[in-house]
Amino acid sequence: MAETISELLKGNKDWVEKSLEANPDFFSKLEKGQSPKFLWIGCSDSRVPSTEITNSSPGSIFVQRNIANMVIHTDSNLLSVVHYAVKVLKVNHIIVCGHYGCGGILAAMSNEHFGFLDNWLVHIKDVYRLHKSELDAIEDETERARRYVELNVKEQVNNLSMVSFIQEEWDKGEYPYIHGWVYTLGTGLIDDLNCSINSSAHLDQVYRYSPKEIIK
Ligand code: CO
Repeated sequence: MAETISELLKGNKDWVEKSLEANPDFFSKLEKGQSPKFLWIGCSDSRVPSTEITNSSPGSIFVQRNIANMVIHTDSNLLSVVHYAVKVLKVNHIIVCGHYGCGGILAAMSNEHFGFLDNWLVHIKDVYRLHKSELDAIEDETERARRYVELNVKEQVNNLSMVSFIQEEWDKGEYPYIHGWVYTLGTGLIDDLNCSINSSAHLDQVYRYSPKEIIK
């Protein structure tokens, strides 16, 4: 594991060498442009790097990461990334990937102060409130945190489905699909939470922008 800046720069040179050995066109091909099929919304946690854990190469995944993989409708950074991915890159799939043992989730579960971060954590606490009866009923704290991680991913999938320009794409065709995944740090494995959607049909009517003839 790299611990110094010089180790990172040395690591870069080694990686370039290795990549060129395997494929002399590796960088010249990437230089021509990107057409990733996936947008990844994941946690900033250093242990959950999208490309490595899916064994995919540079050029495969457009990425946005923040603490606890949140989709917040006033986050212009995230929305710009999603807009570009959906409207310009035309990704087929958006993946929200949470992970068990997420520090953001654990912090949101607690009643501790985390300084400026408290404001971000409020959005995660909102998810707890939405599922309070289910979560409060889980006595084991680790199990409760695990379920909280899963429910948070599902809520962020749901939040994406409320984005007006995603619904615009669904009015035109089947893409993008939105998926909810969770990663286990201790095994390296990803589980699909089976909450994939490509329509706003499940949403309360107030969140839907579908053409008028569909909304009764
Ligand atoms: Co995390």
